[in-house]
Amino acid sequence: ATNRTFTMIKPDAFGAGNSGAILKMIEEAGFKIIALKTTRLDAKLAGEFYKVHQERPFYADLCKYMSSGPIIAAILEKENAIVDFRKLIGATNPADAEEGTIRKLYATSIEANAVHGSDSDENAQIEGGFFFNAFERID
Ligand code: CMP
Repeated sequence: ATNRTFTMIKPDAFGAGNSGAILKMIEEAGFKIIALKTTRLDAKLAGEFYKVHQERPFYADLCKYMSSGPIIAAILEKENAIVDFRKLIGATNPADAEEGTIRKLYATSIEANAVHGSDSDENAQIEGGFFFNAFERID
């Protein structure tokens, strides 16, 4: 089925000037950009976005890192968007990511892992809604 996912280009990849290359890989993999913006999270917004991870040991560092610089947020559309996008980005830890994946190419650590990808349709909906209203995306 055609569906959607949500992604962020994280502060490490944005700061290194890799946003364009990453967006090119995303489009070449067949994803349509439904919404897109450059923005910046403060620690509170990062904490809210990642609140599912609030009990995890990496949560505080993650919030600090995600608010350390600009990010790009986007909603993407493709058949099997969730699964196919997770294949395109590779494993959370770049050390485990397959050759040719975005994280293998651009991530620097398990935390500074270049991009986010939603893990379910439900979370894609929630995460996209966190950043974009109806006027800021195409339907
Ligand atoms: P993401 O897919 O955006 O979801 C949670 C984020 O937490 C993850 O990418 C990493 O940026 C970060 N993180 C840091 N340490 C870990 C860890 N040990 N396991 C999973 N995620 C981690």
